[in-house]
Amino acid sequence: MSPLGLSPLLALAALSLVSAQDSFPKTPLANKHFTYPNLSYAIQPYRVDTDDNLLRGPQLGYNQCNSTTEGKNSLCQTSFLNSLDDFCVWAPSQPNSAVADQEGHMVAWCTKPGRGTRVIPAGALTGVQFIKTPAYVSVVGFIDQTKINIAAGDSGGEMDPHGADLRGNPLGGLVFSNAFGGDKNTFTQAIEWHNFMGSNSFCFKACDPANKDAAHFCEHVFDRIGCAYNVPSNAQNGVFESCLGDNQDFPGVYTVNGQVMTYTQPPEDQGAIQTMPYTARVPASSSCVAFKSADVFNGGVGVPVASPSASSAVSSASSTISSSGSATPSVTRSSSASGSASISTASSSPRTTASAASSTTGTSGNPQSTSNDAVTLAISGASILGIVFSALFLS
Ligand SMILES: *[C@@H]1O[C@H](CO)[C@@H](O)[C@H](O)[C@H]1NC(C)=O
Ligand SMILES: *[C@@H]1O[C@H](CO)[C@@H](O)[C@H](O)[C@H]1NC(C)=O
Repeated sequence: MSPLGLSPLLALAALSLVSAQDSFPKTPLANKHFTYPNLSYAIQPYRVDTDDNLLRGPQLGYNQCNSTTEGKNSLCQTSFLNSLDDFCVWAPSQPNSAVADQEGHMVAWCTKPGRGTRVIPAGALTGVQFIKTPAYVSVVGFIDQTKINIAAGDSGGEMDPHGADLRGNPLGGLVFSNAFGGDKNTFTQAIEWHNFMGSNSFCFKACDPANKDAAHFCEHVFDRIGCAYNVPSNAQNGVFESCLGDNQDFPGVYTVNGQVMTYTQPPEDQGAIQTMPYTARVPASSSCVAFKSADVFNGGVGVPVASPSASSAVSSASSTISSSGSATPSVTRSSSASGSASISTASSSPRTTASAASSTTGTSGNPQSTSNDAVTLAISGASILGIVFSALFLS
């Protein structure tokens, strides 16, 4: 009797042991620590994930990237988040891809050449806000996603160094930053980071590993609620600016009537997320410096430096964005932004002008939440696919 009674349990235990062995790497990606540029931990052939026999198969590309790998066919999976003019995002290696299908195989697309990656094409970025806070650096922005191989209309999903099988999305993806110390030649691995891509927009946060709350600021469980909740910001299409900022609240944590609450993301089988119990607080930013896009990406290969071509790139992207929002304010904002002085403080005209331009359209009293909501809804819609995909490979 007793063996019979135990055996289902034992069988279950044995099964889960086998399945754990088949699914999980010996060392999760987030526990692998590297220095740059000499990735001493990287095992040949030049990649940090060598768990080729696990369910998701081999890492697509490599982490040791150099002048030979650089360019439009690069499969470099080492990314950077340094500053307004020097960052990467994760995007597919093949044209017209859905983020949800490719999250495990994304490659680095960067604003600058020189680190063996792909370079984001001229005119793709139409607005970016970089913020450095005590705990992290982030970029939030607007992009013609078809120029970085994301299918038109794809509402996208989240990349982070965890994933259901702890190998990361992308598998073996690394992120470094030179923004955490004073020395721009010292690159620190951001152990915790998250990057949302989709709906012609993106946000990417790299948390300072020296901060004890890095894992909270770069939380990876809120994959369905997008940039507005994970990296709340004032980023606006047509505006390129670099700011200092306060820390945000931890994603998913909010305060109502003095009571601190934690949001729980509902399971997939309850369908699309229709309502949220809160709006994420946008942390204060300061010392913003505004740029024309051409100034910002001067170092990029093929990026037009002349203002006229930069402006037309911005305008055409603005009309792409218009399908999900308001074309007029974007165009107005971009012209006011590019017409503004290169250097201004947070309280000077570019931000104020942008807000005013937006509110005159009557679309919303709060232009920030308009653009963020579009991003949020879109990303939550698409993440359903991402989660289904994750569940499939683990089951
Ligand atoms: C890289 O680091 C490894 C391990 O610390 C060391 O053996 C190797 O010599 C280093 N290579 C270079 C080029 O510094
Ligand atoms: C450049 O990087 C690739 C991919 O990691 C590697 O295969 C190749 O040997 C490297 N080339 C040099 C010259 O280091």
